[in-house]
Amino acid sequence: MKHNGLKPAEGRLGILIVGCGAVATTFMTGVLMARKGLAKPIGSVTQYGKIRVGRGEAKQYLPVSDIVPLAKLDDIVFGTWDVYPQNAFQAAMYAEVLEEKDIIPVKDELQQIIPMPAAFDKNYAKRLDGDNVKNCQTRWQMVESLRQDIRDFKAKNNCSRIVVLWAASTEIYVSVDEKVHYQLSDLEAAMKADDREHIAPSMCYAYAALSEGAPFIMGAPNTTVDIPAMWQLAEQTRMPIAGKDFKTGQTLVKSGFAPIIDVRNLGLSGWFSTNILGNRDGLVLDEPENFRTKEVSKLSTLETILKPDEQPDLYQDYYHKVRINYYPPRNDNKEGWDNIDIFGWMNYPMQIKINFLCRDSILAAPLCLDLCLLSDLAARAGRYGIQRFLSFFLKSPMHDYTQGEEAVNNLYQQYTMLKNAIREMGGFEADEEID
Ligand SMILES: NC(=O)c1ccc[n+]([C@@H]2O[C@H](COP(=O)([O-])OP(=O)(O)OC[C@H]3O[C@@H](n4cnc5c(N)ncnc54)[C@H](O)[C@@H]3O)[C@@H](O)[C@H]2O)c1
Repeated sequence: MKHNGLKPAEGRLGILIVGCGAVATTFMTGVLMARKGLAKPIGSVTQYGKIRVGRGEAKQYLPVSDIVPLAKLDDIVFGTWDVYPQNAFQAAMYAEVLEEKDIIPVKDELQQIIPMPAAFDKNYAKRLDGDNVKNCQTRWQMVESLRQDIRDFKAKNNCSRIVVLWAASTEIYVSVDEKVHYQLSDLEAAMKADDREHIAPSMCYAYAALSEGAPFIMGAPNTTVDIPAMWQLAEQTRMPIAGKDFKTGQTLVKSGFAPIIDVRNLGLSGWFSTNILGNRDGLVLDEPENFRTKEVSKLSTLETILKPDEQPDLYQDYYHKVRINYYPPRNDNKEGWDNIDIFGWMNYPMQIKINFLCRDSILAAPLCLDLCLLSDLAARAGRYGIQRFLSFFLKSPMHDYTQGEEAVNNLYQQYTMLKNAIREMGGFEADEEID
Protein backbone atom coordinates (compact mmCIF):
# COMPACT_ATOMS: atom_id res chain seq x y z
CA MET A 1 0.00 0.00 0.00
CA LYS A 2 1.17 3.56 -0.65
CA HIS A 3 0.44 6.03 2.06
CA ASN A 4 0.32 9.45 0.39
CA GLY A 5 2.87 11.04 2.73
CA LEU A 6 1.21 9.63 5.81
CA LYS A 7 3.65 9.65 8.74
CA PRO A 8 4.13 6.31 10.55
CA ALA A 9 2.72 5.74 14.03
CA GLU A 10 6.13 5.73 15.70
CA GLY A 11 6.67 6.24 19.41
CA ARG A 12 4.15 6.58 22.22
CA LEU A 13 0.73 8.16 21.86
CA GLY A 14 -0.39 10.13 24.92
CA ILE A 15 -4.18 10.17 25.32
CA LEU A 16 -5.14 12.94 27.70
CA ILE A 17 -8.75 12.62 28.83
CA VAL A 18 -10.68 15.50 30.31
CA GLY A 19 -12.76 13.82 33.03
CA CYS A 20 -11.94 10.63 34.88
CA GLY A 21 -15.51 9.39 35.22
CA ALA A 22 -17.49 6.40 34.00
CA VAL A 23 -16.66 6.64 30.29
CA ALA A 24 -12.98 7.52 30.77
CA THR A 25 -12.28 4.77 33.29
CA THR A 26 -14.16 2.14 31.26
CA PHE A 27 -12.13 3.14 28.21
CA MET A 28 -8.77 3.11 30.00
CA THR A 29 -9.44 -0.12 31.89
CA GLY A 30 -10.54 -1.88 28.70
CA VAL A 31 -7.41 -0.83 26.81
CA LEU A 32 -5.13 -1.89 29.68
CA MET A 33 -6.96 -5.23 30.01
CA ALA A 34 -6.87 -5.83 26.24
CA ARG A 35 -3.15 -5.17 26.27
CA LYS A 36 -2.73 -8.02 28.73
CA GLY A 37 -4.94 -10.28 26.65
CA LEU A 38 -7.55 -10.30 29.43
CA ALA A 39 -10.39 -8.54 27.56
CA LYS A 40 -11.46 -7.89 24.01
CA PRO A 41 -12.04 -4.37 22.59
CA ILE A 42 -15.46 -5.28 21.21
CA GLY A 43 -17.35 -2.54 19.38
CA SER A 44 -14.22 -0.89 18.05
CA VAL A 45 -13.97 -0.29 14.30
CA THR A 46 -10.21 0.19 14.43
CA GLN A 47 -9.72 -3.15 16.19
CA TYR A 48 -12.29 -5.28 14.36
CA GLY A 49 -13.48 -3.44 11.24
CA LYS A 50 -12.75 -4.74 7.76
CA ILE A 51 -13.09 -2.50 4.74
CA ARG A 52 -13.17 -3.25 1.05
CA VAL A 53 -10.40 -1.71 -1.01
CA GLY A 54 -10.07 -2.04 -4.77
CA ARG A 55 -12.72 -3.16 -7.23
CA GLY A 56 -13.39 -6.15 -9.44
CA GLU A 57 -10.55 -8.65 -9.38
CA ALA A 58 -8.40 -6.36 -7.23
CA LYS A 59 -11.10 -6.27 -4.53
CA GLN A 60 -10.03 -7.30 -1.02
CA TYR A 61 -11.44 -6.86 2.47
CA LEU A 62 -8.69 -5.73 4.81
CA PRO A 63 -8.57 -4.95 8.53
CA VAL A 64 -8.40 -1.19 9.08
CA SER A 65 -4.93 -1.51 10.60
CA ASP A 66 -3.69 -3.18 7.39
CA ILE A 67 -4.94 -0.24 5.34
CA VAL A 68 -3.57 2.57 7.51
CA PRO A 69 -0.84 2.64 10.19
CA LEU A 70 -2.62 3.04 13.53
CA ALA A 71 -1.07 3.53 16.94
CA LYS A 72 -0.89 0.21 18.78
CA LEU A 73 -2.67 -0.30 22.09
CA ASP A 74 0.74 -1.05 23.62
CA ASP A 75 1.96 2.42 22.65
CA ILE A 76 -0.81 4.32 24.44
CA VAL A 77 -0.15 6.27 27.67
CA PHE A 78 -3.11 7.72 29.54
CA GLY A 79 -3.46 10.90 31.55
CA THR A 80 -6.52 12.80 32.83
CA TRP A 81 -7.82 15.93 34.46
CA ASP A 82 -10.72 15.82 36.90
CA VAL A 83 -12.49 17.94 39.47
CA TYR A 84 -12.20 14.96 41.84
CA PRO A 85 -8.72 13.82 42.90
CA GLN A 86 -9.37 10.03 42.97
CA ASN A 87 -7.01 8.00 40.80
CA ALA A 88 -8.37 6.02 37.86
CA PHE A 89 -8.64 2.81 39.92
CA GLN A 90 -10.74 4.53 42.59
CA ALA A 91 -12.79 6.28 39.92
CA ALA A 92 -13.43 3.02 38.05
CA MET A 93 -14.59 1.36 41.26
CA TYR A 94 -16.80 4.35 42.06
CA ALA A 95 -18.36 4.32 38.59
CA GLU A 96 -19.52 0.70 39.06
CA VAL A 97 -19.62 0.09 35.34
CA LEU A 98 -17.14 -2.78 35.39
CA GLU A 99 -17.00 -5.59 37.88
CA GLU A 100 -14.09 -5.68 40.30
CA LYS A 101 -12.68 -8.79 38.59
CA ASP A 102 -12.30 -6.79 35.36
CA ILE A 103 -10.47 -3.92 37.10
CA ILE A 104 -8.17 -5.62 39.61
CA PRO A 105 -5.74 -7.11 37.04
CA VAL A 106 -4.79 -3.57 35.96
CA LYS A 107 -5.13 -1.94 39.38
CA ASP A 108 -1.46 -0.91 39.57
CA GLU A 109 -1.53 0.84 36.21
CA LEU A 110 -4.83 2.58 36.96
CA GLN A 111 -3.52 3.80 40.29
CA GLN A 112 -0.70 5.58 38.49
CA ILE A 113 -3.25 7.65 36.55
CA ILE A 114 -3.91 10.54 38.90
CA PRO A 115 -6.07 13.38 37.63
CA MET A 116 -4.38 16.72 37.14
CA PRO A 117 -6.32 19.66 38.62
CA ALA A 118 -9.24 20.60 36.38
CA ALA A 119 -9.88 23.85 34.57
CA PHE A 120 -13.33 24.20 36.05
CA ASP A 121 -16.08 26.72 36.69
CA LYS A 122 -18.88 25.53 38.92
CA ASN A 123 -21.38 27.65 37.03
CA TYR A 124 -20.91 25.26 34.11
CA ALA A 125 -21.76 22.11 36.11
CA LYS A 126 -23.45 23.12 39.36
CA ARG A 127 -23.91 19.61 40.68
CA LEU A 128 -20.18 18.91 40.92
CA ASP A 129 -18.37 19.81 44.14
CA GLY A 130 -14.85 18.38 43.76
CA ASP A 131 -11.91 20.56 44.77
CA ASN A 132 -9.15 19.25 42.48
CA VAL A 133 -9.42 22.50 40.57
CA LYS A 134 -6.87 24.92 39.15
CA ASN A 135 -6.54 28.24 40.86
CA CYS A 136 -6.77 30.50 37.80
CA GLN A 137 -7.84 34.13 37.76
CA THR A 138 -8.83 34.23 34.09
CA ARG A 139 -9.77 31.92 31.25
CA TRP A 140 -6.46 32.78 29.60
CA GLN A 141 -4.61 31.55 32.69
CA MET A 142 -6.57 28.31 32.39
CA VAL A 143 -5.31 27.94 28.83
CA GLU A 144 -1.71 28.58 29.86
CA SER A 145 -1.87 26.16 32.76
CA LEU A 146 -3.40 23.44 30.55
CA ARG A 147 -0.73 23.98 27.91
CA GLN A 148 1.91 23.48 30.56
CA ASP A 149 0.16 20.26 31.70
CA ILE A 150 0.25 18.92 28.15
CA ARG A 151 3.91 19.79 27.67
CA ASP A 152 4.86 18.26 31.03
CA PHE A 153 2.89 15.07 30.37
CA LYS A 154 4.41 14.67 26.94
CA ALA A 155 7.97 15.11 28.22
CA LYS A 156 7.53 12.98 31.36
CA ASN A 157 6.01 10.08 29.44
CA ASN A 158 8.24 10.38 26.43
CA CYS A 159 5.31 10.67 24.02
CA SER A 160 5.81 11.51 20.39
CA ARG A 161 2.18 12.58 19.95
CA ILE A 162 -0.78 13.67 22.09
CA VAL A 163 -4.55 13.51 21.55
CA VAL A 164 -6.95 15.30 23.90
CA LEU A 165 -10.41 13.78 24.40
CA TRP A 166 -13.23 15.42 26.34
CA ALA A 167 -15.12 12.78 28.34
CA ALA A 168 -16.08 15.18 31.11
CA SER A 169 -19.54 16.31 32.14
CA THR A 170 -21.85 18.17 29.81
CA GLU A 171 -21.55 21.90 30.42
CA ILE A 172 -24.46 24.34 30.45
CA TYR A 173 -25.60 25.46 27.02
CA VAL A 174 -23.45 28.15 25.43
CA SER A 175 -25.14 29.59 22.39
CA VAL A 176 -22.92 30.74 19.55
CA ASP A 177 -22.31 34.49 19.71
CA GLU A 178 -20.93 35.97 16.50
CA LYS A 179 -19.10 38.74 18.37
CA VAL A 180 -17.03 36.27 20.40
CA HIS A 181 -17.08 32.92 18.64
CA TYR A 182 -16.60 33.74 14.95
CA GLN A 183 -13.08 35.18 14.88
CA LEU A 184 -10.07 33.67 16.60
CA SER A 185 -8.86 37.14 17.64
CA ASP A 186 -12.22 37.82 19.34
CA LEU A 187 -12.12 34.46 21.11
CA GLU A 188 -8.61 35.14 22.39
CA ALA A 189 -9.58 38.64 23.50
CA ALA A 190 -12.56 37.22 25.40
CA MET A 191 -10.32 34.66 27.10
CA LYS A 192 -7.89 37.40 28.12
CA ALA A 193 -10.77 39.60 29.32
CA ASP A 194 -12.05 36.62 31.34
CA ASP A 195 -15.47 36.61 29.66
CA ARG A 196 -16.92 33.72 31.69
CA GLU A 197 -20.30 33.86 30.01
CA HIS A 198 -19.03 33.09 26.52
CA ILE A 199 -15.89 31.08 27.26
CA ALA A 200 -16.61 27.68 28.75
CA PRO A 201 -13.76 25.82 30.48
CA SER A 202 -13.97 23.21 27.69
CA MET A 203 -12.91 25.92 25.20
CA CYS A 204 -9.74 26.42 27.24
CA TYR A 205 -8.92 22.70 26.96
CA ALA A 206 -9.53 22.78 23.20
CA TYR A 207 -7.48 25.93 22.71
CA ALA A 208 -4.62 24.47 24.78
CA ALA A 209 -4.67 21.13 22.92
CA LEU A 210 -4.64 22.66 19.45
CA SER A 211 -1.95 25.16 20.40
CA GLU A 212 0.21 22.29 21.65
CA GLY A 213 -0.19 20.40 18.39
CA ALA A 214 -2.73 17.86 19.66
CA PRO A 215 -6.02 16.93 17.97
CA PHE A 216 -9.08 17.66 20.12
CA ILE A 217 -12.24 15.54 20.31
CA MET A 218 -15.44 16.69 22.03
CA GLY A 219 -17.36 13.68 23.40
CA ALA A 220 -20.09 15.71 25.11
CA PRO A 221 -22.58 17.98 23.33
CA ASN A 222 -20.74 21.17 24.40
CA THR A 223 -20.38 24.02 21.90
CA THR A 224 -16.55 24.14 22.46
CA VAL A 225 -15.02 23.45 19.04
CA ASP A 226 -18.26 23.89 17.13
CA ILE A 227 -17.48 27.56 16.46
CA PRO A 228 -15.67 29.24 13.54
CA ALA A 229 -12.95 30.69 15.81
CA MET A 230 -11.86 27.17 16.76
CA TRP A 231 -11.97 26.08 13.12
CA GLN A 232 -9.54 28.94 12.42
CA LEU A 233 -7.26 27.78 15.23
CA ALA A 234 -7.39 24.19 13.94
CA GLU A 235 -6.40 25.45 10.48
CA GLN A 236 -3.64 27.62 11.83
CA THR A 237 -2.18 24.80 13.90
CA ARG A 238 -3.04 22.20 11.22
CA MET A 239 -4.74 20.00 13.79
CA PRO A 240 -7.87 17.82 13.42
CA ILE A 241 -10.96 18.49 15.53
CA ALA A 242 -14.05 16.33 15.95
CA GLY A 243 -17.35 16.48 17.82
CA LYS A 244 -19.88 16.53 19.23
CA ASP A 245 -21.33 13.97 21.63
CA PHE A 246 -20.57 10.24 21.46
CA LYS A 247 -23.22 8.43 19.46
CA THR A 248 -23.89 5.51 21.78
CA GLY A 249 -27.40 4.28 22.69
CA GLN A 250 -30.62 5.89 21.64
CA THR A 251 -29.18 8.15 18.96
CA LEU A 252 -27.27 5.25 17.43
CA VAL A 253 -30.58 3.40 17.15
CA LYS A 254 -32.29 6.51 15.81
CA SER A 255 -29.74 7.23 13.10
CA GLY A 256 -29.76 3.57 12.09
CA PHE A 257 -33.54 3.13 12.23
CA ALA A 258 -34.76 6.39 10.66
CA PRO A 259 -33.31 5.35 7.27
CA ILE A 260 -35.76 2.38 7.27
CA ILE A 261 -38.66 4.82 7.37
CA ASP A 262 -36.96 6.93 4.71
CA VAL A 263 -36.14 4.21 2.20
CA ARG A 264 -39.62 2.63 2.47
CA ASN A 265 -41.25 6.07 2.07
CA LEU A 266 -43.36 5.68 5.18
CA GLY A 267 -44.71 8.74 6.99
CA LEU A 268 -43.73 9.94 10.46
CA SER A 269 -46.07 11.79 12.78
CA GLY A 270 -44.04 11.60 15.99
CA TRP A 271 -40.97 10.20 17.67
CA PHE A 272 -40.81 10.25 21.45
CA SER A 273 -37.55 9.19 23.11
CA THR A 274 -37.11 8.89 26.83
CA ASN A 275 -34.39 7.48 29.06
CA ILE A 276 -33.71 6.62 32.67
CA LEU A 277 -30.11 6.96 33.78
CA GLY A 278 -28.55 6.97 37.24
CA ASN A 279 -24.84 7.76 36.96
CA ARG A 280 -23.05 11.08 37.57
CA ASP A 281 -23.73 12.02 33.95
CA GLY A 282 -27.45 11.58 34.69
CA LEU A 283 -27.07 13.71 37.81
CA VAL A 284 -25.43 16.56 35.87
CA LEU A 285 -28.04 16.29 33.10
CA ASP A 286 -30.80 16.57 35.71
CA GLU A 287 -29.91 20.27 35.83
CA PRO A 288 -32.12 21.94 33.16
CA GLU A 289 -29.32 24.16 31.76
CA ASN A 290 -27.06 21.13 31.26
CA PHE A 291 -29.89 19.04 29.80
CA ARG A 292 -30.57 21.82 27.28
CA THR A 293 -27.11 21.18 25.74
CA LYS A 294 -27.89 17.47 25.41
CA GLU A 295 -31.37 18.11 24.07
CA VAL A 296 -30.13 20.30 21.23
CA SER A 297 -27.65 17.57 20.28
CA LYS A 298 -30.16 14.71 20.44
CA LEU A 299 -32.87 16.57 18.53
CA SER A 300 -30.67 17.34 15.54
CA THR A 301 -30.53 13.72 14.34
CA LEU A 302 -33.87 13.26 12.60
CA GLU A 303 -34.18 16.53 10.69
CA THR A 304 -31.47 15.68 8.18
CA ILE A 305 -32.68 12.11 7.58
CA LEU A 306 -36.45 12.61 7.36
CA LYS A 307 -36.68 15.97 5.61
CA PRO A 308 -40.04 17.78 5.72
CA ASP A 309 -39.04 20.13 2.86
CA GLU A 310 -38.32 17.30 0.46
CA GLN A 311 -41.24 15.04 1.43
CA PRO A 312 -44.04 17.18 2.90
CA ASP A 313 -46.62 14.37 2.60
CA LEU A 314 -44.46 12.11 4.74
CA TYR A 315 -42.60 14.32 7.20
CA GLN A 316 -44.47 17.59 7.61
CA ASP A 317 -44.68 18.70 11.24
CA TYR A 318 -43.68 15.49 12.96
CA TYR A 319 -43.35 15.85 16.71
CA HIS A 320 -39.89 14.97 18.06
CA LYS A 321 -39.30 14.93 21.79
CA VAL A 322 -36.33 13.70 23.84
CA ARG A 323 -36.24 13.33 27.64
CA ILE A 324 -33.59 12.12 30.10
CA ASN A 325 -34.70 11.24 33.61
CA TYR A 326 -32.23 10.85 36.48
CA TYR A 327 -32.98 7.56 38.25
CA PRO A 328 -30.14 6.49 40.59
CA PRO A 329 -30.97 2.75 40.97
CA ARG A 330 -29.99 2.09 37.35
CA ASN A 331 -26.57 3.75 37.60
CA ASP A 332 -24.77 3.40 34.22
CA ASN A 333 -27.28 0.88 32.87
CA LYS A 334 -29.49 3.20 30.92
CA GLU A 335 -32.90 2.20 29.66
CA GLY A 336 -34.16 3.99 26.60
CA TRP A 337 -37.65 3.86 25.16
CA ASP A 338 -38.57 5.05 21.72
CA ASN A 339 -42.14 5.33 20.61
CA ILE A 340 -42.37 5.97 16.90
CA ASP A 341 -45.72 6.91 15.35
CA ILE A 342 -45.60 6.21 11.66
CA PHE A 343 -48.24 6.05 8.95
CA GLY A 344 -48.54 4.06 5.77
CA TRP A 345 -50.73 3.49 2.73
CA MET A 346 -53.65 5.96 2.76
CA ASN A 347 -52.41 7.48 6.02
CA TYR A 348 -53.19 4.46 8.21
CA PRO A 349 -51.30 4.85 11.53
CA MET A 350 -48.91 2.30 13.04
CA GLN A 351 -46.50 2.27 15.97
CA ILE A 352 -43.01 0.98 16.58
CA LYS A 353 -41.61 0.57 20.11
CA ILE A 354 -37.93 0.15 20.81
CA ASN A 355 -36.70 -0.65 24.31
CA PHE A 356 -32.91 -0.54 24.54
CA LEU A 357 -31.41 -1.75 27.80
CA CYS A 358 -27.89 -0.59 27.21
CA ARG A 359 -24.77 0.11 29.18
CA ASP A 360 -23.75 3.64 28.46
CA SER A 361 -20.03 3.49 29.08
CA ILE A 362 -19.67 0.04 27.50
CA LEU A 363 -20.98 1.59 24.28
CA ALA A 364 -18.90 4.77 24.65
CA ALA A 365 -15.50 3.15 25.38
CA PRO A 366 -14.86 1.74 21.89
CA LEU A 367 -15.85 5.09 20.38
CA CYS A 368 -13.24 6.79 22.57
CA LEU A 369 -10.59 4.42 21.27
CA ASP A 370 -11.61 4.81 17.63
CA LEU A 371 -11.90 8.60 17.85
CA CYS A 372 -8.45 8.91 19.45
CA LEU A 373 -6.68 6.53 17.07
CA LEU A 374 -8.35 7.98 13.98
CA SER A 375 -7.71 11.59 15.02
CA ASP A 376 -4.05 10.73 15.54
CA LEU A 377 -4.06 9.07 12.12
CA ALA A 378 -5.70 12.14 10.55
CA ALA A 379 -3.03 14.41 12.06
CA ARG A 380 -0.28 12.19 10.66
CA ALA A 381 -2.02 12.26 7.29
CA GLY A 382 -1.92 16.08 7.33
CA ARG A 383 -5.70 16.46 7.71
CA TYR A 384 -6.84 19.38 9.79
CA GLY A 385 -10.00 21.23 10.80
CA ILE A 386 -13.37 19.48 11.15
CA GLN A 387 -13.03 15.73 10.52
CA ARG A 388 -16.37 14.93 8.94
CA PHE A 389 -15.47 11.26 8.49
CA LEU A 390 -15.65 10.88 12.27
CA SER A 391 -19.38 11.82 12.24
CA PHE A 392 -20.07 8.07 12.37
CA PHE A 393 -19.16 8.14 16.06
CA LEU A 394 -20.96 11.36 16.95
CA LYS A 395 -24.51 12.35 17.75
CA SER A 396 -24.38 15.92 16.55
CA PRO A 397 -21.65 15.99 13.92
CA MET A 398 -19.78 19.20 13.29
CA HIS A 399 -20.33 20.96 9.96
CA ASP A 400 -19.87 24.48 8.64
CA TYR A 401 -23.26 25.97 9.49
CA THR A 402 -22.02 29.43 8.45
CA GLN A 403 -22.06 28.17 4.84
CA GLY A 404 -25.45 26.45 5.15
CA GLU A 405 -23.80 23.01 5.21
CA GLU A 406 -25.99 20.24 6.64
CA ALA A 407 -24.67 17.59 9.00
CA VAL A 408 -24.83 14.00 7.79
CA ASN A 409 -26.73 12.02 10.42
CA ASN A 410 -27.69 8.89 8.48
CA LEU A 411 -25.56 6.13 10.01
CA TYR A 412 -24.94 4.36 6.69
CA GLN A 413 -23.88 7.53 4.90
CA GLN A 414 -21.58 8.27 7.83
CA TYR A 415 -20.12 4.77 7.54
CA THR A 416 -19.42 5.36 3.86
CA MET A 417 -17.62 8.63 4.73
CA LEU A 418 -15.53 6.77 7.30
CA LYS A 419 -14.59 3.99 4.88
CA ASN A 420 -13.72 6.45 2.11
CA ALA A 421 -11.45 8.48 4.39
CA ILE A 422 -9.62 5.35 5.58
CA ARG A 423 -9.24 4.18 1.98
CA GLU A 424 -7.89 7.56 0.95
CA MET A 425 -5.43 7.80 3.83
CA GLY A 426 -4.29 4.27 3.00
CA GLY A 427 -3.50 5.29 -0.56
CA PHE A 428 -6.53 3.56 -2.12
CA GLU A 429 -9.33 5.12 -4.10
CA ALA A 430 -12.20 6.59 -2.04
CA ASP A 431 -14.56 4.85 -4.43
CA GLU A 432 -17.87 4.52 -2.60
CA GLU A 433 -20.71 6.92 -3.46
CA ILE A 434 -22.69 8.54 -0.64
CA ASP A 435 -26.27 8.17 -1.88
N1 LIG B 1 -21.80 7.20 28.13
C1 LIG B 1 -22.39 7.57 27.03
O1 LIG B 1 -23.03 6.77 26.39
C2 LIG B 1 -22.24 8.96 26.54
C3 LIG B 1 -22.76 9.27 25.31
C4 LIG B 1 -22.62 10.54 24.80
C5 LIG B 1 -21.97 11.49 25.56
N2 LIG B 1 -21.51 11.19 26.80
C6 LIG B 1 -20.90 12.25 27.54
O2 LIG B 1 -19.63 11.88 28.01
C7 LIG B 1 -19.36 12.62 29.19
C8 LIG B 1 -18.83 11.68 30.25
O3 LIG B 1 -19.85 10.78 30.68
P1 LIG B 1 -19.63 9.93 32.01
O4 LIG B 1 -20.76 8.98 32.10
O5 LIG B 1 -18.25 9.43 32.07
O6 LIG B 1 -19.82 11.05 33.12
P2 LIG B 1 -19.18 11.10 34.58
O7 LIG B 1 -20.01 12.08 35.33
O8 LIG B 1 -19.02 9.72 35.15
O9 LIG B 1 -17.71 11.66 34.34
C9 LIG B 1 -17.46 12.97 33.98
C10 LIG B 1 -16.30 13.48 34.83
O10 LIG B 1 -15.94 14.76 34.32
C11 LIG B 1 -15.48 15.52 35.42
N3 LIG B 1 -15.47 16.94 35.02
C12 LIG B 1 -16.52 17.78 34.86
N4 LIG B 1 -16.10 18.98 34.43
C13 LIG B 1 -14.75 18.89 34.29
C14 LIG B 1 -13.75 19.81 33.88
N5 LIG B 1 -14.05 21.06 33.52
N6 LIG B 1 -12.46 19.37 33.84
C15 LIG B 1 -12.14 18.10 34.20
N7 LIG B 1 -13.05 17.20 34.62
C16 LIG B 1 -14.35 17.60 34.67
C17 LIG B 1 -16.45 15.16 36.52
O11 LIG B 1 -15.91 15.46 37.79
C18 LIG B 1 -16.64 13.67 36.29
O12 LIG B 1 -15.77 12.88 37.08
C19 LIG B 1 -20.64 13.34 29.57
O13 LIG B 1 -20.59 14.67 29.12
C20 LIG B 1 -21.67 12.60 28.80
O14 LIG B 1 -22.81 13.39 28.50
C21 LIG B 1 -21.62 9.94 27.31
